[in-house]
Amino acid sequence: MAMTKTDNDRLTLVESDAPMGVIMRNHHWIPAALSEKLIEDGAPLRVRLLGEDFVAFRATDGRVGFFDEACPHRGASLALARNEDNALRCLYHGWKFRVDGEVIEVATQVEHVREFCKSVPLRHFPVREAGGIVWVWLGEGSGPPAFPAFEFMGLRPEHYIVHKQIGHFNWLQGVETTMDSAHAGVLHQSHVTNMGGLSLAAKNQAPVYEIEDQSYGFRYAGIRTLDDGTRYVRVNSFVLPWFGVIAPREFYPGSAVFFSIPIDNEHSTYWTVRYRLDAPLEKDEMTTFTDAADWPPAVPGGPETNWGQDRELMRRGHFTGFPQHLTTEDLVIITSQKPIVNRTREFLNSGDGALIRLRRQLLNALAASAGGAIPSPDDAINYANIRGVSGVLQAGTAWQKLCDNDEGLQRR
Ligand code: FES
Ligand SMILES: [Fe+2]
Repeated sequence: MAMTKTDNDRLTLVESDAPMGVIMRNHHWIPAALSEKLIEDGAPLRVRLLGEDFVAFRATDGRVGFFDEACPHRGASLALARNEDNALRCLYHGWKFRVDGEVIEVATQVEHVREFCKSVPLRHFPVREAGGIVWVWLGEGSGPPAFPAFEFMGLRPEHYIVHKQIGHFNWLQGVETTMDSAHAGVLHQSHVTNMGGLSLAAKNQAPVYEIEDQSYGFRYAGIRTLDDGTRYVRVNSFVLPWFGVIAPREFYPGSAVFFSIPIDNEHSTYWTVRYRLDAPLEKDEMTTFTDAADWPPAVPGGPETNWGQDRELMRRGHFTGFPQHLTTEDLVIITSQKPIVNRTREFLNSGDGALIRLRRQLLNALAASAGGAIPSPDDAINYANIRGVSGVLQAGTAWQKLCDNDEGLQRR
């Protein structure tokens, strides 16, 4: 059954007082920037989230400040500000804002300067840094929610890599492609041929899903029966509201973690993290898939050139004509769906099982929120235990066995 327009809007729209945006703002830490982009006393970084503009900067002592981009005086961009002495100084009239949000100088005010400083309504937000990422809490009320301390955040740098790409698509399209196991063996079939484990996804393009709800969201097994009767199983997790923890391409312990974060209703940042526990990542997993800047969107070109699709390469056997990276294929496809895909016109099949559950859980969170319940992450969630796992199982072996034991079972 196709989705109603009302539900499509409720799931996708995040700006202003849209209910999904309110949940994200109040009940979740939001990945905002790469830590490495913020240098002590360096240029402040413009950050747009949920349709609002902010500025992030690293102060002299290493702390990160996170303010509204618009100066509270008359709206000059604080991305232009001087970053010095653990504070930003607006260029226009020199007002000075300390990294912790205190207003410490208002050079243009004649009288009662101290009281005036206290009255300036600078909006500043709590941040945390983990896994090479600056996270911000944009909410109001009783304090920040539990922090999503995923497994990779405790690893040495050579064991994980974080990328981000900005695209012209609604956030939910990013999450949906993350959780859509069925496309892995179709869209990515030319890329996965070199990936021993994941190449098996192309051998059976109709995975059967078994889904289990969890306190954090759900996990599912995408099960592909192979010609010899064994089953290639990928166990992935959806973690509310925007994380997918996905089995790595090979049978090593680790995961890929993807999150699609709304810049506004029609743009998103697609974050990808890959990590491996037993060894440093291999070189080709460390390389970036484009050298593009964060903005404009890093997909190659636009619809007028079919995003640079290489038809000659397709004639020579490449399935999609996007040789850059399999994430390029994802980004092009979800951009091609239009900025907000019209879900009232979809025609779903059994291969869409995981994304149907994902939408239902998000709708449930919206309903709970409307009813006054707080859809914050449960304090009891142990994010570090959520891992994507894959393996080849004999017929009759329960897929849950893959998850029971951290050691060895990911291997064939
Ligand atoms: S606009 Fe920033 S100090 Fe005047
Ligand atoms: Fe994909």
